[in-house]
Amino acid sequence: MTKIIKSGNISSIKKAAQIIKAGGLVVFPTETVYGIGANALDPKAVNRIFKAKGRPSDNPLIVHIDKMDWISKLCVDVPGMAYKLAYRYWPGPLTLVLKKSSVVPKNVTAGLDTVAVRIPNNKIALSLIRESKVPIAAPSANLSGKPSPTKAIHIIKHLDKRVDIIIDGGPTDIGLESTVLDLASKIPTILRPGKISLEELRMIMPNVKMAHPKSKIKSPGMKYRHYSPESKVILSSPEKIPMLIKRHANDKIAVIHTSKVKIPKNIESFYCKNLEILAHNIFDKFHEYDSKNFDLIIIESVEEKRIGTAIMDRLKKAASEIVN
Ligand code: TXA
Ligand code: MG
Repeated sequence: MTKIIKSGNISSIKKAAQIIKAGGLVVFPTETVYGIGANALDPKAVNRIFKAKGRPSDNPLIVHIDKMDWISKLCVDVPGMAYKLAYRYWPGPLTLVLKKSSVVPKNVTAGLDTVAVRIPNNKIALSLIRESKVPIAAPSANLSGKPSPTKAIHIIKHLDKRVDIIIDGGPTDIGLESTVLDLASKIPTILRPGKISLEELRMIMPNVKMAHPKSKIKSPGMKYRHYSPESKVILSSPEKIPMLIKRHANDKIAVIHTSKVKIPKNIESFYCKNLEILAHNIFDKFHEYDSKNFDLIIIESVEEKRIGTAIMDRLKKAASEIVN
């Protein structure tokens, strides 16, 4: 079994940093979700990430740094806006896509001429990067296609023996992955919505836009099926939830809802009207319902505004059916 260390004393962080320096894989918490980290400057170590996750090699990784100084080493032609946003939001859940320098190995960026970077807002993540003395490439610590992990227990199920060590830092704060913002193209474009929303970024950059889901694929990760629990997921309007429960009477059903819908007492349900709290819990609920072998998760659609846009992005990718 992969060794799990309980959070943050410096000697355990130093041990994990030794593993990074030696080309190994360390699962660590960030404020968004857990990541599988490797030395971003070591292509062999980076290859191990792709193998451990079963990740297609054309899906690039985010490089996690602890200081702004790394930007000028990893990136070229950095626009002023990148520094403005970095000063405003880092450490935090905003990933910037910038032109890469030759220091960044090709497999990190899946051959693209851009690299995604961020400073995570988590003490364990930051001290791991600092002690490793290298930037850490890290995708979310799930098997490719599965829901992202927000607790150490979610990781063990899928990645046991595939990584060298897991640092358990407790549940992550935000629960959804970072906003990915492309600053290398002419018009700043959100490639993946997150807690830092389009509405918020517009106040700083009035011309920022959301990547059109059907536009030419710029963020390679967006074309893959994602976030799917074993259970079937149906996204529904609140009015249709009772009908869906009846239609699937023979299934073991769980319902996640944000408005007041009457759910029969014998049906498992999670009611949460605050979208920040829903974001914090959604992947955890997916993992929980999977471990309890639910056949079907019915989830109420939320308004695609602010963090609701990020929640719906994940839910639409997880769902096999949308009922309005
Ligand atoms: O919150 C997060 O971002 C978490 C934590 C661990 O930091 N990481 C994460 O990584 O979600 P991952 O690999 O699961 O998702 C990275 C996303 C993918 O959609 C990928 O295609 C996109 O970022 N991406 C990475 N590099 C890119 C690049 N150079 N150009 C466009 N998209 C890129
Ligand atoms: Mg991921």
